[in-house]
Amino acid sequence: MRIGIIGAGQLGQMLGFAARDLGHECLFLDPSENPPARVVGPVIQAPFDDPVALAVLAEKSDVVTYEFENVPVEALGEIAGIAPIYPPPAALGQAQDRLSEKRLFETTGIPLPAYRQIDSLSDLEAAAAEIGLPLVLKTRRFGYDGKGQFVVRTASDIELAFNELGGRKLIAEEWVPFDYEVSAIGVRNVDGIIATYCLTRNEHAGGILRVSRAPVDDVALTERSVGYMHSLLEHLDYVGVLALELFVVGKGLLANEFAPRVHNSGHWTIEGARTSQFSNHVLAVTNQSPGPTETLGYAGMINLIGEISEAATSPPCGVFHDYGKTPRPGRKLGHITVVADSARECDTLLAKLEECVTESR
Ligand SMILES: Nc1ncnc2c1ncn2[C@@H]1O[C@H](COP(=O)(O)OP(=O)(O)O)[C@@H](O)[C@H]1O
Ligand SMILES: [Mg+2]
Repeated sequence: MRIGIIGAGQLGQMLGFAARDLGHECLFLDPSENPPARVVGPVIQAPFDDPVALAVLAEKSDVVTYEFENVPVEALGEIAGIAPIYPPPAALGQAQDRLSEKRLFETTGIPLPAYRQIDSLSDLEAAAAEIGLPLVLKTRRFGYDGKGQFVVRTASDIELAFNELGGRKLIAEEWVPFDYEVSAIGVRNVDGIIATYCLTRNEHAGGILRVSRAPVDDVALTERSVGYMHSLLEHLDYVGVLALELFVVGKGLLANEFAPRVHNSGHWTIEGARTSQFSNHVLAVTNQSPGPTETLGYAGMINLIGEISEAATSPPCGVFHDYGKTPRPGRKLGHITVVADSARECDTLLAKLEECVTESR
């Protein structure tokens, strides 16, 4: 089949490699000059909302999917009659707005932090009084890697935060004193067959994912996350890979956000699981059965952010992935994955990698 992929960044590149291995061709749409996925298939160079380019992509493809979250849902609606689009654009629409995302968690019975819709300074003052401080003010749309967020720690921050982010639609969220962060990754195909991966533990720095480790050896948390994943995938009549970010607080989980696409915290599945998230996304959107998601040991993944040191290109352990991007502070340029027989050994390997990884933010 030919798979049309909107977005030709590193996620598109890795989807493309997986699709090629499964015998498919890929065609991409991306506005950038030299996007990472160019190495795996032709790229239509056009804006994500260009109706003509989107129509060409759909006409030339058997199925259309996306790796980029800010594709206008209306633009997707225009091409829905030409080729099937997976994941369903309605799911994308819900993920694009933090308010509808939170309402979705409520509808599907997934616990989440307290939040309020914020449209004015007085809304924020009321939220601070009701939820308490600290709280996080976030733009409802277009946030990524911690951008569009302001932590309101004291009453004097309230006006500051509103001046910084106001003018856009906002939400305020309880500050969660989490023990750690995890993500759950699941996949559902056109026929409704679901597979889920183990929980992945994620560490962020400055809002950007830095290190992931899998599996999280906690049966109760894992079972709970699998239940949440099934609720979401079924409620959305979802097709493809979905990632759910959660906070671990004591023995409970609170949903933070979800991504209707393959996810950075699932990169370890390329070497560390029997079927990668990328292969499973391709299998799902082409309506094949998902492949087995068991881990092949204890996996660790470290992102290469802003720059790639000489040493990181031939690391002492693990597999180096180079996205072929121009270095820029804060940009994800590649990653390295290690797989070990125990969690402790995985940590030792990650510590070795830390010695050769440099970053610029
Ligand atoms: N309510 C919160 N309480 C504590 N930490 C938070 C909260 N919201 C976000 N964070 C921290 O900021 C990171 C980025 O926020 P997130 O909502 O996931 O936005 P993004 O879309 O930028 O990933 C989270 O992974 C977490 O570390
Ligand atoms: Mg996030």
